[in-house]
Amino acid sequence: MNYTTIFIFFSVFISFYTFVKFGHRKSVVGPRPPPGPYSLPIIGSIFKLGDKPHHSLAALSKTYGPLMSLKLGSTTMTVISSHKTAQEFFLKHDMSFSSRSIPHAATAHNRHEISMVWLPVGDQWRRLRRISKEHLFSVRQLDASQNLRKKKVHELLDYVHGCLESAKPVNVGQTATTTTLNILSNFIFSTDIAQYDSLSSQDFKDLVWGLMEVGGTPNVADFFPVLRPFDPQGLRKQACYYTGKLMAIFDQHISARIEARTKGLVDHGEGSSSKDLTDLLLDISQNEESSISIDDIRSLLFDIFLAGTDTTSSTLEWAMAELIHNPAKMSKARSELNEILGDENESVEESDISRLPYLQAIVKETLRLHPPVTFLVPHKAITDVEIQGYMVRKDSQVLCNLWVMGQDPNVWSNPQRFDPERFLETGIDYKGHDFELIPFGAGRRICPGLPLAHRLLHVMLGSLIYKFEWKIDGGLSPQDMDMSDKFGFTLHKSLPLMAIPVKV
Ligand code: HEM
Repeated sequence: MNYTTIFIFFSVFISFYTFVKFGHRKSVVGPRPPPGPYSLPIIGSIFKLGDKPHHSLAALSKTYGPLMSLKLGSTTMTVISSHKTAQEFFLKHDMSFSSRSIPHAATAHNRHEISMVWLPVGDQWRRLRRISKEHLFSVRQLDASQNLRKKKVHELLDYVHGCLESAKPVNVGQTATTTTLNILSNFIFSTDIAQYDSLSSQDFKDLVWGLMEVGGTPNVADFFPVLRPFDPQGLRKQACYYTGKLMAIFDQHISARIEARTKGLVDHGEGSSSKDLTDLLLDISQNEESSISIDDIRSLLFDIFLAGTDTTSSTLEWAMAELIHNPAKMSKARSELNEILGDENESVEESDISRLPYLQAIVKETLRLHPPVTFLVPHKAITDVEIQGYMVRKDSQVLCNLWVMGQDPNVWSNPQRFDPERFLETGIDYKGHDFELIPFGAGRRICPGLPLAHRLLHVMLGSLIYKFEWKIDGGLSPQDMDMSDKFGFTLHKSLPLMAIPVKV
């Protein structure tokens, strides 16, 4: 069903509801809301969003400024479009904006009541964040599990080598997804969950992709919460299907592990010197003070798979696309790798990252130009907040347009150009302190998986360019490549990158 049909169906109902509920309210005195485009009755400014909201909101911010507000149906959205406003948002008002605006699809199986991604900042959310920081993504845990990632990177290189031998192009995004899924599933369950080129692994990938797709589709029920019971586009129904299937897979793994632990039969797989996350979390749950249940464990593992896979693999695909599109930068990256590592190593390892400044600059530049979580995960105001002389009302949704921040000519010279060198001259980093570059967010809600993502991106990308040269498929020259993006829960390339590996 398209938007027009939906609006015709429901506009009478909504007009009546809106009149009954809000029609007789007194106007509010005090600071005005941030400026924004005109609103049509009922639908507000929904028609302004288009199919690339990061581009259309960027254009609107040129007229209305770095803090603007839009009425979308019966909801209000506040959009931040400059690093200075983001800095004020995170440094002065982080707590007031720390809650989440929950999309209807995220309520499937009541996941929002238990998931770290959607919980408000409170005791349960703090408990899950502390467990993630101290146990799952601590330097000690990540160092202890690095051999398993090394093994998975070697499998990735073997797969690419096979493609090279059979002169087959590599679908870079899909291949990166398989590697990331297996790294996460070994980190979590000590087992592979996806296979390169095999239909048998498609199931799990399809479920993850399906859920991401649903999450990235604009939902009329989010603009008109009164429509939620009707689920007009069936998005929540689809989310229930994918979520249910994924939860059943996690339940199976967790139950098998509980049984193996009771029988004293736990094996964390070849090359691993540490417990996997399932065991770590089951250990924590047995500690009476921890108050984390099996449901919490399943939810945490679910969040890690969902939040960690597409973000990492789409960044890798963009980085490879930019390097193939800019052959001089690719050569420079390979020269650095050869100079620092020699030409005998099997792959780039995590301990090499700090010695590879140009590779680090490439990852930063990719995240500047193509921030995978373009608007951050939507924040929500928990009180009225006065910011820059305007009033952002309680319950407004707040989005941070990272894409337009990465295009700001006052901060970045030639912002459209892929130019990793700019990061060699500044100390700007993405750890949440430099507001010019916050692809992982900042403040309380900053991505807890950042330390793992940092290692994954560098070893996967570094190894692919260290061991192979790359050409674009289809006889295109690098300059003719399509570099346009497609909006979704993560920002993908419009056309998948099909690249041909060549022996170095
Ligand atoms: C949240 C980015 C990889 C787990 C987030 C947020 C962003 C982000 C922007 C929301 C911050 C906010 O709303 O203010 C990224 C990027 C990644 C990446 C760019 C890779 C390139 C990962 C990985 C994991 C992960 C590998 C786990 C293995 C999470 C979780 C949250 C989150 C659980 C929710 C945190 C909360 O709401 O408290 N990430 N992420 N992410 N990320 Fe990541």
